[in-house]
Amino acid sequence: MWEVRVTPAGDFDNHAFKSNHFEVRPLSAAMGAEVVGVRLPDLSDEAFEQFKQALYRHKVLYLRDQHLTHAEHEEFGARLGPFAVDAYTQGVPGHREVHPIIKEADTKAASLFGGGWHTDSPFLAEPPAITTLRAVEIPPFGGDTTWANCALAFRHLSKTYQDMLRPLRVHMSAANNVRTQEKLMGKAITFADREQFEQGQRGSYHPLVRTHPETGEQSLYICDTYADGIEGMTTFEARPIIEFLVQHTTQHAFCCRLRWEEGMVALWDNRGTMHLGPNDYDGYRREMYRTTTAGGVPV
Ligand code: SIN
Repeated sequence: MWEVRVTPAGDFDNHAFKSNHFEVRPLSAAMGAEVVGVRLPDLSDEAFEQFKQALYRHKVLYLRDQHLTHAEHEEFGARLGPFAVDAYTQGVPGHREVHPIIKEADTKAASLFGGGWHTDSPFLAEPPAITTLRAVEIPPFGGDTTWANCALAFRHLSKTYQDMLRPLRVHMSAANNVRTQEKLMGKAITFADREQFEQGQRGSYHPLVRTHPETGEQSLYICDTYADGIEGMTTFEARPIIEFLVQHTTQHAFCCRLRWEEGMVALWDNRGTMHLGPNDYDGYRREMYRTTTAGGVPV
């Protein structure tokens, strides 16, 4: 007899991080929180330390009414750590670390940057740790970003399955994504950097269960867009595991969804999350800018 899939229960703990510098309002039971009462450029060093702890706890933070300039965005990104080299995009003139993600109102594309569940550039040997995204123009509907909490998803697996996954290494590669995008878009996909393109095609092996370097929390390192194998397994063996883990992790109970407002800034920790921004606002302009912070070798 099969068990019927039921909503996961029990281990939900998105209680607000307590700060004496800002207020934190949790978004969903699984993850995410709004930070209220600060403008990012005004965070003192002590407030900034608390802000990072809040990010590690909630995994996604967002703030309304920031209206950052490119310079303010870049300065805030620099406080998070050294910038990552982004595989796909290049910075705006004068601010090389602030990368535009813009879809014009008259662009009709079968596929969109970031449109499938993914974690940022996991095919690199050292994938980025933190991504910030700032909204300048948003459509009247659609263009929301959704995240999944990969640590919570790991905790909701049986101990038997967790123990099976812990020693495994997942192969992350950009090859399938490049091929799919080229087919859908009918044109060649290039990375800003040739060496990264080749590295992306080759891909990297990473722990399937990774440990967060700041908190020690264990998390699935899984990706619908880039995970394409498990070390030592055939495709036929690996694929059902990857597909199950993506389906398990992206179920509603482990996610939060952000409806953007102009002037908003959101940031997330790629070391414990997946995200997607769907292609559901044809006919409207969406103008966003992002920065990425370097991360180390996942362990
Ligand atoms: C991204 O995948 O980094 C972008 C997500 C979005 O545009 O909502």
